Amino acid sequence: MSTEAVAFFDGRLVPLREANVNIATHAFNYGTGVFEGIRAYWDADQGDLFIVQAAPHFARLLRSARLLHIEVPYTVDELVEWTRELMRANQFRTDVYIRPLAYKADPAIKVGLSGIGSAFAMFALPMGDYVPTGGLSVAISSWRRIADNMIPSRAKVTGAYVNAALSSDQAKSDGYDEAIMLGDDGQVSEASSSNLFMVRQGILVTTPVTADILEGITRQVVFDLAKDLRIPVEVRPIDRTELYSADEIFLCGTGVQLAGATHVDRRQIGDGRPGPITTAIQERYFALVRGRAPEYRHYVTAVYGGKA
Ligand SMILES: Cc1ncc(COP(=O)(O)O)c(C=O)c1O
Repeated sequence: MSTEAVAFFDGRLVPLREANVNIATHAFNYGTGVFEGIRAYWDADQGDLFIVQAAPHFARLLRSARLLHIEVPYTVDELVEWTRELMRANQFRTDVYIRPLAYKADPAIKVGLSGIGSAFAMFALPMGDYVPTGGLSVAISSWRRIADNMIPSRAKVTGAYVNAALSSDQAKSDGYDEAIMLGDDGQVSEASSSNLFMVRQGILVTTPVTADILEGITRQVVFDLAKDLRIPVEVRPIDRTELYSADEIFLCGTGVQLAGATHVDRRQIGDGRPGPITTAIQERYFALVRGRAPEYRHYVTAVYGGKA
């Protein structure tokens, strides 16, 4: 039985087709919103849907909102509970992408943040793999990653995604799968909508939170999985040409999941296939998100609790 899509809007669940904003809305005019991308994975064997890292995502949303003086009238726990309700109202039994948004909602022609009313909304859609997870061909973008002192990089600000869209669009029209962005200092920052790890001499390396990256929730999960796999991790600046010499590269994020990159600017990485460290972390990650790994069960929130 197909049901009509349901959204959370104005403090309640409503049909998605009724969850609309006016063209005078501040966030529509100025990009003054913050958002999250959260995934939920369906596991047919367990008959349940698992929301991945729900609380850390909503905690980041509240931090992003504070940076833009956006009021969110809910706690992290309340937001997680509304998300479970939203999943149930949509009767999802498939992999899902969840999009919460907090934004400046007043109809105001005014460049500023204070004194402008806020709203919160959330919708979700069925979604499978966003980019291939097998072997990406990536390019260094000529678009630099927006710096923290221009638009806060650690906040997921709607307007800042023009920067990501320009780099991703350029990479795709040039025949690549994804774009890697350098910061204003010419060093590696992250990919257009994911964080980046490389392997050199058995060490997993990623850029620091001061490299204008979004402080990824998946990045943190990768740290945890690497620790369990006893893979040493280094957080330090990465030069562009280190990527050309890396043994392995992978991107990680809610949307891209965990995807090995096998070519950078048409140069082959390793033997041209996702390497052993990428594959080991990827296997654990995909078991974790589907609630199949008992030791990682605390990373996921069950929607139906065995009553699907
Ligand atoms: C610019 C950017 N960097 C990194 C990430 C990865 O973050 P997360 O793992 O929290 O999804 C995302 C995706 O949300 C992103 O948009």
